[in-house]
Amino acid sequence: MGRLSGKRAIVTGAGSGIGRASALLFAREGAKLVIVDRVEDAVDETAAAIRAEGGTVFSVAADVSDEAAVNGFVDHCVSEFGGVDVVYANAGISGGMVPLQEQTVPYWQEILAVNLIGPFLAIKAASPHMIKQGKGSIICTASVAGLRANAGGTPYSASKAGVISLVQTVANELYGTGVRVNAICPGLIETGMTKPIFDGARARGTDDKIGQLNPLKRYGLPPEIAQAALFLASDDASYVNGQAIPVDGGLSSTHPFAGRR
Ligand SMILES: NC(=O)c1ccc[n+]([C@@H]2O[C@H](COP(=O)([O-])OP(=O)(O)OC[C@H]3O[C@@H](n4cnc5c(N)ncnc54)[C@H](O)[C@@H]3O)[C@@H](O)[C@H]2O)c1
Repeated sequence: MGRLSGKRAIVTGAGSGIGRASALLFAREGAKLVIVDRVEDAVDETAAAIRAEGGTVFSVAADVSDEAAVNGFVDHCVSEFGGVDVVYANAGISGGMVPLQEQTVPYWQEILAVNLIGPFLAIKAASPHMIKQGKGSIICTASVAGLRANAGGTPYSASKAGVISLVQTVANELYGTGVRVNAICPGLIETGMTKPIFDGARARGTDDKIGQLNPLKRYGLPPEIAQAALFLASDDASYVNGQAIPVDGGLSSTHPFAGRR
């Protein structure tokens, strides 16, 4: 028996990085899946890998900031599997690093639409089904950038702080329903999003310095975030609700400290 045996799960941003690793792990743990990404080839590739291991999965090309599309993939899960037990609203964009005076309203709107309104829409669409079942787990990917400065651009960080507030407020709005809502705050993870950082450091020969700011002194890998998502998705986390859990090698545990050996 897998830790998600019999559960019906949706994972967004499943074409790459953390979403792909989570979809693969959820499937290995027995979940039936609807996986979503705006890049069709990428999400299809994840689905093929899951099927190759014997998993059950539907892949959907959709934009998580489009309410009709979100309603569509949630309905797809309910009509194919008879309900939805887990939603992992993980898709996100970084927006890069743009100086404050060059940031425009459309630039902010795009990042907030994907990173913050996207999870809101997934919660809005899936929670009525979960309330009916009296049970469900919603997980969002926030970031250490939502906890304090210097882990991403301004709108990205604000969007992730918004995600942390979203899980706190929605967990309370769903008071008494049995639906749990939590976020994961990853530190620096090697994925498509952070590829430019890794490529740049490797080109400069400074890759041994990546991740040096946290006490584990290394960057993280997508399966390490997937394991946290698996815990929150499973009944092992039955009393964990309204939390934003850093999975960051200890980065957020410390003040800036110059005395490292
Ligand atoms: N990599 C890190 O260091 C890090 C750290 C903290 C938080 N995160 C968060 O983790 C999540 C996953 O990112 P990742 O690092 O795996 O990056 P990634 O770029 O490898 O994967 C993100 C996926 O989301 C998809 N996506 C983007 N916008 C979408 C949209 N509008 N609709 C549907 N799909 C969309 C992309 O196509 C991509 O496949 C994001 O929310 C990101 O902000 C990442």
